[in-house]
Amino acid sequence: MPIFNPDDESERTPQTAGALIDAVTRADGVIVSCPEYAHGVPGGLKNALDWLVSRDAAVAKPAMLVHASPRSLYARAALTEIMRTMSFALFEGGLEIALLGKQPPEIDAILGEEANRRAMRDALQAFADFIRRR
Ligand SMILES: Cc1cc2nc3c(=O)[nH]c(=O)nc-3n(C[C@H](O)[C@H](O)[C@H](O)COP(=O)(O)O)c2cc1C
Repeated sequence: MPIFNPDDESERTPQTAGALIDAVTRADGVIVSCPEYAHGVPGGLKNALDWLVSRDAAVAKPAMLVHASPRSLYARAALTEIMRTMSFALFEGGLEIALLGKQPPEIDAILGEEANRRAMRDALQAFADFIRRR
């Protein structure tokens, strides 16, 4: 996705950014799951969010943060601030399942554990209830 530039909005909005804006506009809610690098939000994700800033797509849109690393406290704090500033309706209850440094066969096993399956089901249910209440 091209780097966000307010001069490239309206009829000059790049097709990829337009597709993201349409998808978020159509969605009942948005779930964001991202890594943390150098205590920050990955640049690609921040850039994608920037394309949503000056329009209605994010306004009052329910959103939930999901994390795979118990260390990623800076990224989730920054995302919370960014997304609240953009007027997303941020769901307070997120989800964290520690997968940092794990490889696919082990990841499948961890995600298949009954406690984690229940945590994922409960988090999605709670987010769906949050969307319905709005
Ligand atoms: C250069 C680099 C910097 C990173 N910085 C952080 C960081 O500041 N905080 C954190 O929680 N994880 C950090 N990580 C870990 C990544 O978030 C993690 O590697 C990524 O989520 C992918 O997960 P995996 O390594 O388990 O595949 C860093 C990883 C790399 C390669």
